Amino acid sequence: MSVFSAQDLRDQFLKYFESKDHKIIASASLIPDNDPTVLFTTAGMHPLVPYLMGEKHPQGTRLASVQKCIRTGDIDEVGDTTHHTFFEMLGNWSLGDYDKIKAIDFAWEFLTKTLAINPALLAVSVFQGDENVAEDKVAFEYWLTLGLANAKIAKLGVKDNWWGPAGTTGPCGPDTEIFYWTGDQNKTPDNFDPEDKNWVEIWNNVFMEYNKTADNKFTALQQKNIDTGMGLERTLAVLNGVDDNYKTELFWPIIQELEKLSGKKYEEDKRSFRIVADHIRSAVFILGDNNGVAPSNKDQGYVLRRLIRRAIRFAKIIGIANNFTKILTTLIIKQYGPDYPELIKNQDFVNKEIEQEENKFVSTLEKGLREFAKQKTIDGKTAFVLFSTYGFPLEMTEELARENNIEINNQEFEAEFKKHQDLSRTASAGMFKGGLADDKQNTKRHHTAAHLMLQALRMVLGEHVEQRGSNINEDRMRFDFTHPEKMTPEQIQKVEDIVNEQINKKMPVSYQEMSVAEAKEYGAIGIFEHKYGDKVKVYTMGDFSKEICGGPHVDNTAELGSFKIIKEESSSAGVRRIKAQVK
Ligand code: SER
Repeated sequence: MSVFSAQDLRDQFLKYFESKDHKIIASASLIPDNDPTVLFTTAGMHPLVPYLMGEKHPQGTRLASVQKCIRTGDIDEVGDTTHHTFFEMLGNWSLGDYDKIKAIDFAWEFLTKTLAINPALLAVSVFQGDENVAEDKVAFEYWLTLGLANAKIAKLGVKDNWWGPAGTTGPCGPDTEIFYWTGDQNKTPDNFDPEDKNWVEIWNNVFMEYNKTADNKFTALQQKNIDTGMGLERTLAVLNGVDDNYKTELFWPIIQELEKLSGKKYEEDKRSFRIVADHIRSAVFILGDNNGVAPSNKDQGYVLRRLIRRAIRFAKIIGIANNFTKILTTLIIKQYGPDYPELIKNQDFVNKEIEQEENKFVSTLEKGLREFAKQKTIDGKTAFVLFSTYGFPLEMTEELARENNIEINNQEFEAEFKKHQDLSRTASAGMFKGGLADDKQNTKRHHTAAHLMLQALRMVLGEHVEQRGSNINEDRMRFDFTHPEKMTPEQIQKVEDIVNEQINKKMPVSYQEMSVAEAKEYGAIGIFEHKYGDKVKVYTMGDFSKEICGGPHVDNTAELGSFKIIKEESSSAGVRRIKAQVK
């Protein structure tokens, strides 16, 4: 039904920036290779973080891409016309190369010349300034010189016109956003009212000049960067004059298939149709990624599980009686395979895992819903039973409760959940119970070394390594961790070398208080035993180690001198014990 195809838009965008001396880079993996600050790639800038921070990019200082992204922060908004958990982002970057004037020029020329959008349909916002960073007068003035009326330029605050960092630390800066009028084209307003939903944001140009540090400071980056992002789905919809992203070619075949499977029309329950289409498309991209994961109860795997299970619940709502996921995954892979060949390569894995998850959940969903229907209020125990027996993610129970006007007590749920974890994790008892025997300088040094060593063990032995308890005093540290076999002398040497290398880097040690959810997002390791809402301390050592811990620690790794492993032995089944010292 579209007149402007997705492929046209991707091609035109990349061609335009290529003609402005940008090198085209491939979409990076959805699951970042080497960035523990986020679970998923959420923007095109993500794979470029080291280069925004000053490292040299092998392809130069002007780059452009079409990047696959996942954002689950907006999951509650999915169901409207413009929000998605998966989307493609068209982006261009200047790594300390061109300035914001040039970036605005490029954006304006691409929209109004290449795509031939009528300028009267466009409006923009700029950063109004705050106590950290001044108002962006340069961008404001420049938009005026391009012919935008004063009333079409809104000055907004941090909430609207500051972007990043993507995790809790990293590059960020003020931005200017470009909006498209999707209302009646004969009644294009003279004023830009950011609250009016007919103005849809299509492109964000970020002036990435700052780095947010773990202690909440904004420091100037070595270089002034440009980072832009334009949502493919939205832009395609507005270019084709449709008021619903799901009516573009990207979604319409999926919606039609759902109509066939359910015997219902899209118009009868658009929200449910959209949720199923959106979530299954995301599931295909997460499973089919080159770093793809299977559904699980942890990290990306848990996000995936929630997406699949929520899609299944809404598929039932629109009346799909039989298993359906494979029909959709096949369709989606066919549609996206030419642009994302990894989906074709991983097709068997995608189908096997999604069908397995569907079978697992379908068998308990009905019973769980019956159990739910019996409740007048949802207390912690019930929510927990729905989770552990019927596989209902907490949000699903919350959502069901909301739909049925039933109250739910989250804190109680968390308490139940924690009790359950405690029962099944007795081995970790005693961990992080306030940390140390004392806070003498030598004890602190051993404690800091323990953090470095845990990270080094995970690098050398693998991510299965978790701390299982420690005993630290002035003379030595004793440290237990999960690992199934004796370490080889080479592994021990490697761990020692890595720790000493980090000591020699003289890295600052700092901590930040944050919620458990934030600590997870930040990529901290440690046991997340706390209830949501509780603050935890996360200790950061350079860019090497981030760990939940009560402290105390030394201020700089240089204070450790040198590190030596004295002994490695068995502690109990599947748990090893190391004794080590700093000198
Ligand atoms: N990083 C910015 C965003 O995600 C621009 O790409 O909006």
